[in-house]
Amino acid sequence: MRPAYGVVHATASGRVPPLDGNPMAMQPTEGRGAWSGKLGFVLAAAGSAIGLGNIWRFPYMASEGGGGAFVFVYLLCVMGIGVPVLFAELAIGRATERNPVGAFKKLAPGTMWPALGGMGVAAGFGILAFYSVIAGWTVGYLWMALTGAFGPGVDAAASGALFGSFIGSPGPAIGLSALFLIITAVVVRGGISGGIEKASKILMPVLLGVLIILLIRAVTLPGGMDGVNYLLRPQLSELTPQVVVLALGQALFSMSLGMGAMITYGSYFPKDISLPFAGTAVALADMCIALLAGLIIFPALFSAGMDPQGGPGLVFVVLPTVFAQMPLGGFFAILFFASLSIAALTSTISLMEVVVAYLVDERGWARKKAATIIALACFVLAVPSALSQGAVGWLSSMPVFNQSFLDVQNILWGNYGLSIGAILITLFVGFKWGTPKMLEWIELGGNRLPGREFFAFMVKYVCPLAIAVVLVFIAVTGQYF
Ligand code: TRP
Repeated sequence: MRPAYGVVHATASGRVPPLDGNPMAMQPTEGRGAWSGKLGFVLAAAGSAIGLGNIWRFPYMASEGGGGAFVFVYLLCVMGIGVPVLFAELAIGRATERNPVGAFKKLAPGTMWPALGGMGVAAGFGILAFYSVIAGWTVGYLWMALTGAFGPGVDAAASGALFGSFIGSPGPAIGLSALFLIITAVVVRGGISGGIEKASKILMPVLLGVLIILLIRAVTLPGGMDGVNYLLRPQLSELTPQVVVLALGQALFSMSLGMGAMITYGSYFPKDISLPFAGTAVALADMCIALLAGLIIFPALFSAGMDPQGGPGLVFVVLPTVFAQMPLGGFFAILFFASLSIAALTSTISLMEVVVAYLVDERGWARKKAATIIALACFVLAVPSALSQGAVGWLSSMPVFNQSFLDVQNILWGNYGLSIGAILITLFVGFKWGTPKMLEWIELGGNRLPGREFFAFMVKYVCPLAIAVVLVFIAVTGQYF
């Protein structure tokens, strides 16, 4: 397992390929595929990280956590917990060139650790099944924007009623999540550099462009600066344990951590390219897009004279009323929901890729078959979530949790799955594999990781402890993130 150039570059034929920039020549393990280079990796991994979590979830978490106070703790969590866990996952992937199950099999053969990878694969499947339902809503809203449903005169009451009836209609809810799973499967079937990377290279710049246009529009609205202040000025009186839990959970979810998505994406990382820069770029991009989304939504909200309201309806209910009062609002509505759909797609791709990589590496399935079957199976689990928002009564309040089937999925896979996964991954790196190995694989290809000792310390001690505290908190109080 030594990261020596000659060894890791040898292909199955035993030849060391020339580093001429040809993706095939850089392919680490024959037949698995690889990113064509650093940019391809950064865009795809940033595409995984940036999703509904940044644009839909971050603003509503911020509004529940008092605006600036939440953002302040969130930034600390990203730097102190998120980035170390991100590097831990990327290092495992890079060292093993495997899906999460295969990765732990390779690093800890004959132990229980591969079960942790199995949990990650299951969590990827579970998250995909409810995430695709919400992603389906964004496509529905894009359709409504295109057909002019958000014209002038849509007030808060009308918008709320529209949202309620839309997510409660069984046909669109099921149909749109099926559509989303199909599009995801089509991209994943295309493989690493041909499918996932190509899609991300087009979709991520489009997303950024759209968000920047919306940002300029939002902060220049009259009164928009109040929204900027709300988001960026921490009110320390708002700082509660609940805010810390929300912020840490948001950091994990938003950076796609805790279930091996970044192990999988790291496993396609070319060996001759240095990881410290690429990993930092992914973390920064994720953070910036979340802040960008907040800086669009809150100025627009404050300008429209509304109070920041919490809840998952923030984007879907409040923004249409904002668009309705904005010059060219219909056009901006189209742009916004198109970009939200794009962001969601590059995330669902990564969720499906974890499961597909497992089936391809460990079970010897063909990639295309794996993607198709996973999309179908996931659809079966997505249906009850899609029906749990009003269409079918008993699904909207499940036993034990008293929450909808969709929310229960988020609690099981998102809250428990990701936090237990992140604790075990950091414990594995800290006490089984060893942080020196982690650093060795991150730095393979040249560059030192700035603050390497700090990251090693955080991975080994602080991350598992901090996340365990949050886990106990949510289990005891039932206040999920
Ligand atoms: N990070 C994505 C978002 O913010 C969602 C996501 C994709 C994810 N892959 C993941 C979350 C893996 C947790 C784990 O929308």
